Amino acid sequence: MIGAAEFARRRRQLMRMAGADAAVLVAAAPERMRSADAAWPYRQDSDFHYLCGFPEPEAVLALLPGRGHGEVVLFCRENDAEAHALRAPVIGAEAAIERFGVDDAFPVADIDDILPGMLEGRERVFCHFGREPGFDAQLMGWMRRLRTLRGGGIVPKEFQDLGHLLHDLRLFKSRTELRLMRRAAALTAEAHRDAMRLTRPGRHEFEIEAEWLHAVRRRGAVAAFTPNVAGGERALIVHYHANNARLADGEMVMLDAGAEIDCYAADITRTYPVNGRFSPTQRALYEVVLQAHTAALQAIAPGRAYLDAHEAALDALAEGLCRLGVLPGSAKKVRASGALERLFPHKTSHWLGMDVHDVGDYRVADEPRLLEPNMVLTVEPGLYIPADATDIDPKWRGMGIRIEDDVVVTRDGHEVLTDAVPRDIPGIEALMAGSG
Ligand code: GLY
Ligand code: MN
Ligand code: MN
Repeated sequence: MIGAAEFARRRRQLMRMAGADAAVLVAAAPERMRSADAAWPYRQDSDFHYLCGFPEPEAVLALLPGRGHGEVVLFCRENDAEAHALRAPVIGAEAAIERFGVDDAFPVADIDDILPGMLEGRERVFCHFGREPGFDAQLMGWMRRLRTLRGGGIVPKEFQDLGHLLHDLRLFKSRTELRLMRRAAALTAEAHRDAMRLTRPGRHEFEIEAEWLHAVRRRGAVAAFTPNVAGGERALIVHYHANNARLADGEMVMLDAGAEIDCYAADITRTYPVNGRFSPTQRALYEVVLQAHTAALQAIAPGRAYLDAHEAALDALAEGLCRLGVLPGSAKKVRASGALERLFPHKTSHWLGMDVHDVGDYRVADEPRLLEPNMVLTVEPGLYIPADATDIDPKWRGMGIRIEDDVVVTRDGHEVLTDAVPRDIPGIEALMAGSG
């Protein structure tokens, strides 16, 4: 768990970046409905959670640097009898001050009366606009109120996007955050091992999903995203979530899933044979992706550009595909022609953190960002050979392979968080044979 002192440190840092004449407003995620009266399981907005850890919807956090009565103000649901009858215990303003270390808290029902006055005299407001229509409308309402305050209040001169400041903070993980991410990674690895062991011909993709979820939920964590269990050619569909087909002997299955602990995610993909033994063709193509994975990992170190891992993966894939004769010509020609991007249409890495595709700029001053210690990213090269690629030997067609691990940049290189689930062929075959 992130402690109150760390939340306070983050808020102080953000306020320092925003400046003494600014205000920062962040809203909790709204509750989202799945159907009629049934809500999706609630997930707090990552930015809101990052700044206070308050777990409820219908809340707004206001950071007001230099405000005499307290710089950190939370508006939240009231802890009254009606609230208790309807839902799980509501924390309420009083307990919010005690438990979450905010300076001041008020019922969110009163926000329109209280907040506009607090914004008076601030030069600029940092917030997210254009994300939640409800919040956008509220923000404009507060500005209207501010204009009509006694004698006519002055609205802030500027509105600035909060993402630029906050997301740069989130990109660098603290020791506590890394501890949570290590736990999420370890739990995901264990769930993958369980799911891989259960896999055999005739099982359905949803049985693999269920085994994975069982390993995660029985330890109190949740899935950071809908697990992707894709047998055979379904592995070519990037966002395959149906998970409802039967797994056939002789095909591979791709399992892409990640656990989330206290809002911090892991993200692991393994591709492995349904019957536990790679065929010669599967083995050959798998080895190419594995070599690209190894090459990409070697490019992860402080001072290296974030895209170096991708370039290294592309070089290794081109080299391997030409060696196998999957693509004609030389690796150099394949790299120059763009033919590879058809078989590997995504990037090798993304930032990982509270969001699976985490926030943070990938480019700085129009150059690929240089890696620094405590950034966390994935390494996930893949190959997806379309079933209808008539220019490619039929024996390769319809295979989709991705190998994905989570990596922290350290002072002298990197640390892989997800080594506990095998990615080499002997390791995978041993695990599936029950001896791994
Ligand atoms: N699970 C989404 C991704 O690998 O990026
Ligand atoms: Mn990923
Ligand atoms: Mn993934």
